[in-house]
Amino acid sequence: MRTILVFGGTSTVGFEIVKICARLSYNVVFTYNSSFERAQNCIHSLKEKFPDLSFDIHHFDALDNYQREKCVQELFQNHCNISSVFYNSSLFFYDKIENHKTDDLNKSMDIHVKCPLLILKAFKAYVVKNKIENPSVIHMIDSRVVNLTPHFCSYTLGKSSLWTLTQTAAREFIPDIRVNAVGLGPMTQGEKQTIEQFHQQLESLPLKKKPSFEDLFKAIDCLLHCQSLTGQMLYLDSGMSLGWQFPDQKKPRFF
Ligand SMILES: NC(=O)c1ccc[n+]([C@@H]2O[C@H](COP(=O)([O-])OP(=O)(O)OC[C@H]3O[C@@H](n4cnc5c(N)ncnc54)[C@H](OP(=O)(O)O)[C@@H]3O)[C@@H](O)[C@H]2O)c1
Repeated sequence: MRTILVFGGTSTVGFEIVKICARLSYNVVFTYNSSFERAQNCIHSLKEKFPDLSFDIHHFDALDNYQREKCVQELFQNHCNISSVFYNSSLFFYDKIENHKTDDLNKSMDIHVKCPLLILKAFKAYVVKNKIENPSVIHMIDSRVVNLTPHFCSYTLGKSSLWTLTQTAAREFIPDIRVNAVGLGPMTQGEKQTIEQFHQQLESLPLKKKPSFEDLFKAIDCLLHCQSLTGQMLYLDSGMSLGWQFPDQKKPRFF
């Protein structure tokens, strides 16, 4: 049976990805950073719901140079038949050019660029060594990267670079590994956002609704199984990437 590796499987969207992979009959190995207890609860509920599949968790700290390299190495050493990798780990925080801190930009680059690059390199070697059939990588990005605003500067720079990395890897890994991305729009209420602000944000989208988990299922099914698709970003954003409405340039509307 084939296995999918999900980096960042404990967040709301991350755990949804893990469940979708299970619904598609894959064994899943997923990582946590600070959410160990949640990861254990996730495993418990997965084992109850999908008794025929296997699930495993692994600690992964994207900001720790030594730990992340060791973790990636161990994951590919200890698990066989990994056919796809999801990269969902992310740090979302607010800054603008005028108040950005170098340390924050470094963190964004570590988690959104250096780690996915390290994983791509390791997965390529793993695929060749283990003769994996139809392997693929999916990066969770943000439709913000094509609908630029002055807000969330370091985050946007990191995610934009991840989109560039997606397209670069797709070219380098042809024809062995397909590399694609999901450009997510506002799916869950932001940590610093009130419920009113979240509804206001959804109302401003061309399709006036949040992308649903069922749509995420359909997108993932397509990206995992459509063998002619590579180097693409599937925008699951209710039209946000069309640039239909732009946030007020003076104040951040959408915390
Ligand atoms: N939610 C949305 O509406 C939305 C909109 C656009 C794009 N996205 C993108 O979709 C993805 C999922 O969104 P989300 O809201 O569920 O994300 P999230 O709440 O920000 O969580 C992201 C994941 O990153 C992990 N993480 C954080 N710091 C880490 C570190 N230092 N090392 C390793 N892992 C770390 C977290 O693990 P722990 O909890 O274990 O620390 C968590 O599993 C993200 O890539 C996000 O950028 C989401």
